[in-house]
Amino acid sequence: MQPPPYKIKVVEPIRLVDADRRSRALADAGCNTFLLDSDDVFIDLLTDSGTSAVSQEQRAAMELGDEAYAGSRSFRRLEQAMRDVYGWRHLIPTHQGRGAEHLLARALVRAGQLVPSNLYFTTSRVHAELAGATWVDVSVPEAKDPESRYPFKGDIDVPRLRELIVREGRERIAFVRQEACLNMAGGQPFSLDNLRAVHALTRELEVPFFLDATRSSENALFIKELEPLHAQRSLPEIIREIASLADGAVFSSKKDHFVPIGGFVALDDDELAQRLREDVVVFEGFPHYGGLAGHDMEALAQGIREAADEAIVRSYVGQAQYLGARLEERGIPIVVPVGAHAVFVDAKRFLPHVPQEQFPAQALAAALYLAGGVRTMERGIVSGQHGRDPYDGLELVRLTIPRRAYTREHLDYVVEVVCEVHGRREEVPGLVLTYEPEHLRFFQARFSPLGTFPSFGDASEPAAVPIPS
Ligand SMILES: Cc1ncc(COP(=O)(O)O)c(C=O)c1O
Repeated sequence: MQPPPYKIKVVEPIRLVDADRRSRALADAGCNTFLLDSDDVFIDLLTDSGTSAVSQEQRAAMELGDEAYAGSRSFRRLEQAMRDVYGWRHLIPTHQGRGAEHLLARALVRAGQLVPSNLYFTTSRVHAELAGATWVDVSVPEAKDPESRYPFKGDIDVPRLRELIVREGRERIAFVRQEACLNMAGGQPFSLDNLRAVHALTRELEVPFFLDATRSSENALFIKELEPLHAQRSLPEIIREIASLADGAVFSSKKDHFVPIGGFVALDDDELAQRLREDVVVFEGFPHYGGLAGHDMEALAQGIREAADEAIVRSYVGQAQYLGARLEERGIPIVVPVGAHAVFVDAKRFLPHVPQEQFPAQALAAALYLAGGVRTMERGIVSGQHGRDPYDGLELVRLTIPRRAYTREHLDYVVEVVCEVHGRREEVPGLVLTYEPEHLRFFQARFSPLGTFPSFGDASEPAAVPIPS
């Protein structure tokens, strides 16, 4: 593996607070890692959203931010970057991805319609539902099997999608959604073959087809690596083809585009773009900034160009592969194959003594924090259960790698922390829910442990580096 294509010029200090403080912090946070203060966190693998390092080119571009309310030069540069890299004609900026999802759902969904998708994403589903739609999973069965080595868990089951559209009638389908590097399956890609088939089917049956293209750069890299026919193509060419196969896309730019804030809808259809512009002024801001400052749009325009640079994408995808390989070598049950932006630990196999109603992934995320100040995210029953519907789906802890932010030494430390918890896994208790918000409960829910967490002490403090005399 090649070293990263950058060197570090500005650093942010981090420190490991002692075990007592971690224990108090976790209790104050109701065992929910979202509710921890970042000062109490040592290695922050909660999310790759808005947490990546910006480049010197992005910082320099921010100096050029045109903060005009309307007709901003920065908006024009953003629009141009999107056209150059993805090729759609219209860009509607939003403050972040869920702003884009909200606008799209308002424009496309009528009450009683369906949104077929590969698995789901939390905010995408909630916006479709608030607009009156029902979400329908049309992912391939392998997407829900953490032990299946099927390389394209982001694929849509095309015969199932056809059967659904034909049975329900095209009028009932608000739009078909396919997510790149499918987060909830473990960050795995769709194949270009599959995307072409979904494109052909949606054209044939005349239903709108939108991508969640948030992680499309990584998906393009997997296509290049795993589909022999595309091995010789450039990354920008594959990204461009992905975009050409859908009517449009929503992006949370806080991931592939290396910005702390930002998102957009991109599309070709003039009428739909006009409808989105009518709504963006109500919910986000004027169509030339949509909730972003001029300097945010400059950073985003540059970030879009960096997201098509193969060396950059290869480097951060390589970090996830590295972390996954080290954990697998040490016998940690993880989702395979390792995806793009994170390693997902399978909490059902890690903590088999904790039943799913006692939130094993949430409990494991709490234990990882206690053991070494490593903050991760639950992606199991807390995130995935729909109302009171029974849930026996994936039960995962996501170790998400912010782009360009951590070194291999940080990842090696994380491996030691995970292994330490694994060594004492039988002592990790289940949890009971004590507070549950109505929507997106994983963000702010609170829990109490049903027993005592093991005391990890400070053994996982980073080893002192010997200084040669
Ligand atoms: C695939 C996907 N879509 C949409 C979103 C929502 O984006 P945001 O957090 O910027 O609102 C996310 C965020 O994690 C995501 O991963």
